[in-house]
Amino acid sequence: MIEPVAAILIGAGQRGSEVYGEYALQHPEQVRFLAVAELDAERRQRFAAQHSISPEDQFESWKPLLARDQYGQAALVCTQDQQHTAPTLAALRAGYDVLLEKPMATTPDECRQLVDVAEETGRQLHICHVLRFTKHFSKMREIIQSGELGEVINISHRENVSWWHMAHSFVRGNWRQKEASAPMILAKCCHDLDILIWLMGQNCEQLSSVGNLLHYRPQNAPPGAPKYCLEGCPAAETCPYYAPFIYVELLPLWRSYAETAKGVSRLAAQAQERAPGLVNALSNLAPTLRGISEYRGWPISVVAQDPTPENLMDALREGPYGRCVYHCDNDVVDHQVVNMQFEGGASVTLTMHGHAHVEGRFTRIQGSRAELQATFGYGGSWIEVNEHRSDRRIHYDTSADNASGHGGGDDRLMDAFLKSLREGGSGKFDNSSHLSTARQSLESHLMAFAAEEARLEEKVVRMSEFREAGL
Ligand SMILES: NC(=O)c1ccc[n+]([C@@H]2O[C@H](COP(=O)([O-])OP(=O)(O)OC[C@H]3O[C@@H](n4cnc5c(N)ncnc54)[C@H](O)[C@@H]3O)[C@@H](O)[C@H]2O)c1
Repeated sequence: MIEPVAAILIGAGQRGSEVYGEYALQHPEQVRFLAVAELDAERRQRFAAQHSISPEDQFESWKPLLARDQYGQAALVCTQDQQHTAPTLAALRAGYDVLLEKPMATTPDECRQLVDVAEETGRQLHICHVLRFTKHFSKMREIIQSGELGEVINISHRENVSWWHMAHSFVRGNWRQKEASAPMILAKCCHDLDILIWLMGQNCEQLSSVGNLLHYRPQNAPPGAPKYCLEGCPAAETCPYYAPFIYVELLPLWRSYAETAKGVSRLAAQAQERAPGLVNALSNLAPTLRGISEYRGWPISVVAQDPTPENLMDALREGPYGRCVYHCDNDVVDHQVVNMQFEGGASVTLTMHGHAHVEGRFTRIQGSRAELQATFGYGGSWIEVNEHRSDRRIHYDTSADNASGHGGGDDRLMDAFLKSLREGGSGKFDNSSHLSTARQSLESHLMAFAAEEARLEEKVVRMSEFREAGL
């Protein structure tokens, strides 16, 4: 019998509550939350009720929580991007080992400070780079390391953010403004930059970047479009961004899911379009369908705390997610390309954009002995290797083997974090591990800052100079 790791949660929002809180409810033998800090009273109380946290252990903010005697070993910091550094530094100094959401911080100096304090205090500080934990990217790394591809010459990696996810998070939502959150290349792609370093087992030597905000601007609004979709928009029947279509009908989500899902789940997701009543009725016979017919998760859980169709419509009338995508106060890019050369000489491109029909990450790796193509989607994932000499085609199904988000990466990240705490991991740099320590994450974050500088100043950045500039 193992004792659950005692933990505190800072920020009981979508990630804190729906991912890590849910993990604790599903795995009470692994982790137990003893205290919570959350500004929003409704979220705080709901989390406290779910985890049986008594009133004296509920806090409006992280400061009074961390001023108390240490509750346990672990602190999970799940506040918004610009609110990561202060609570994490305080938690490390208070003796906690920390799991910190990405991006670790939004400036190079703050990232470095986090690394320094983690190493000074000897506490573990891991960043939630969930992709490392997926079966998909783990298999890809294994294939590269086995030598099956020969020498890696070129990688082309695409982060295809779907048009509706872009609208939700980066036009209407929390990550729409660079100054209030982070540049999109950091917010969305620190994961991808991290994965590229992890796959290659090498750092980037130099990079350049182009991109801008092309589409989600007032001049592209349909004629006569009001500020909110529900104010009688003349394009309600034709505009893909019409908010009730995205959030109440929820069809774009199910289409993205169906594209890569298999079996009954795929059929049920497809049937949501023509016969949602049938899926609902069948879910009594096949409980796995309930995940679709009674879906209450992201992105609708962000729009309304209790996302019934009525509550969603209310929230869309005047709330941020009901705004016309062409009349928002967004300024982050909707497409960006980063060209990189890695230390061993391989060339790598990362293309990120917010206009994909179906969400997913596509990777193509050209090796001297074989080529790898890979698709990582909402419903499933696969990798295909084509050998040059034999013309043999090897197919790997890399779909998640658990039901958690990010292709199963969310739960496996928590498993690994808790295991590392139990085993007293040092939190020191160790590139063989799936867990990303603060020092490892620093590199992908510096690449994102460098890419943003390269884009804005139209220049090539040498990473050695960029790293040294902040020392
Ligand atoms: N690892 C991933 O793949 C992944 C995916 C999505 C989001 N994220 C990151 O996770 C973080 C959280 O995202 P989210 O969508 O859950 O955000 P959210 O806005 O839903 O949750 C953040 C919560 O922090 C609370 N908060 C703010 N100030 C606080 C304070 N002083 N003390 C205590 N609580 C405070 C807010 O009230 C809010 O409920 C972000 O940095 C985001 O970029 C990571």
